[in-house]
Amino acid sequence: MAFTKQTIKDYDLTGKRILIRTDYNVPLDKAGDVADDYRIRKSLPTIEYLLSKNCSIIICSHLGRPDGRVVPGLSLKSVAKRLSDLIKKPVEFVNESIGEDVRIASARLKPGQILMLENLRFHRQEEANDPIFSKQLASIANVFVQDGFGVVHRSHASTVGVTKFLPAVAGLLVYDEVNILTESMLNPSRPLVAIIGGAKIKDKIDILKRFIDIADVLVVGGAMANTFIMAKGIDIGESLVDKNELPLANDIIDLAISKAKTQKFTFYIPQDGVVSDDLANPTYTRIVDWDSHIVADIEAYPKQPKIYSYEIKKHEKILDIGPFSGAFIAGAIQLANTVLWNGPLGVTETKAMIGPIGPFSHGTELVIEALLGQYGTKPYSVIGGGDTVGYIEGLKLEDAFNHVSTGGGASLDLLSGRKLPGVEALLKVDH
Ligand code: 3PG
Repeated sequence: MAFTKQTIKDYDLTGKRILIRTDYNVPLDKAGDVADDYRIRKSLPTIEYLLSKNCSIIICSHLGRPDGRVVPGLSLKSVAKRLSDLIKKPVEFVNESIGEDVRIASARLKPGQILMLENLRFHRQEEANDPIFSKQLASIANVFVQDGFGVVHRSHASTVGVTKFLPAVAGLLVYDEVNILTESMLNPSRPLVAIIGGAKIKDKIDILKRFIDIADVLVVGGAMANTFIMAKGIDIGESLVDKNELPLANDIIDLAISKAKTQKFTFYIPQDGVVSDDLANPTYTRIVDWDSHIVADIEAYPKQPKIYSYEIKKHEKILDIGPFSGAFIAGAIQLANTVLWNGPLGVTETKAMIGPIGPFSHGTELVIEALLGQYGTKPYSVIGGGDTVGYIEGLKLEDAFNHVSTGGGASLDLLSGRKLPGVEALLKVDH
């Protein structure tokens, strides 16, 4: 097991007053209600366990990035209501996260009762990891439970500071997340296919290197694939690209080639894509097949293919993978026993790409279908990354995969091999 810290199951919590850090940074709709409660649902096992131990439970979290100001639209009040609906118990709410009102409300709390504090980030001391703020936060409880996996990559008062003043153990969500993500990298059932998308190579450089090391197949997608395509000498028109990252792309390609020379390993850069003239308001979309000239030739036989069937025009942008790439990736998923996916393959935040070109060209949707076993086998699937998980939440498919991480930056850091300060700060398992 990858987890070396004490959890709520290792520590006697019976009848204790618990301060639990959750990550209830959830999307709200226009009316201010919770638009997706996945993170709240994933926190329930820990809260239910604490209730079974007769604890008094004080929950703290952040929501959004108010930068130390009180922003009414980022109140956790509607989150407290949703938690109460889910756990089928009253959840009292206090309009502050520290101070006299919090002290009174928490002192009144009886075993089995739940109190939620207001957004921690309404105080700038939270993100500054201020020791006085941490001490005030800690003063209302006997034990601290870290269950906000999505925020353990931050060194804040409620993730690190508070552990200086209270015994600190992990909740069940943090335990599961760390174990599942770590184990699926260190001891995967092979073949292991990693699909890494996203905008910038430099944000994903560590994870790319790590997966060249451990995966059997590594697929790159999203805007960062454009840099790899450009590095191969293909003209990518006006596609989003950071030319400064070309050396990084070349380094990754060299690393991948040298592994493939000595071991069974495939590094896959999309070979075709859906392009358009304008992301917000495309006048058309078309498929460009910049690598598969043979197929284009056969289709056009006996004529020569028109030049633009495999060329991206100057004003065009790559917005999604194309059908050949989709077929390759879906095929790789069929052969995999484990798939780790972080980062959408195309532009998923616009409806513009849905419609005229048919589902086979929608890379992200295709990966989802393949992971869910639509084409036959269903590998063990582990999904992380804020945009990917947000997309899956939008489809209400969070429960359809083996593991959908509640962490964006936290899962990326863990998969990249970085330490998570909010986990490091917890009590070690006694040997
Ligand atoms: C997240 O949504 O990734 C976490 O809640 C962390 O939020 P942050 O990036 O604003 O710290």
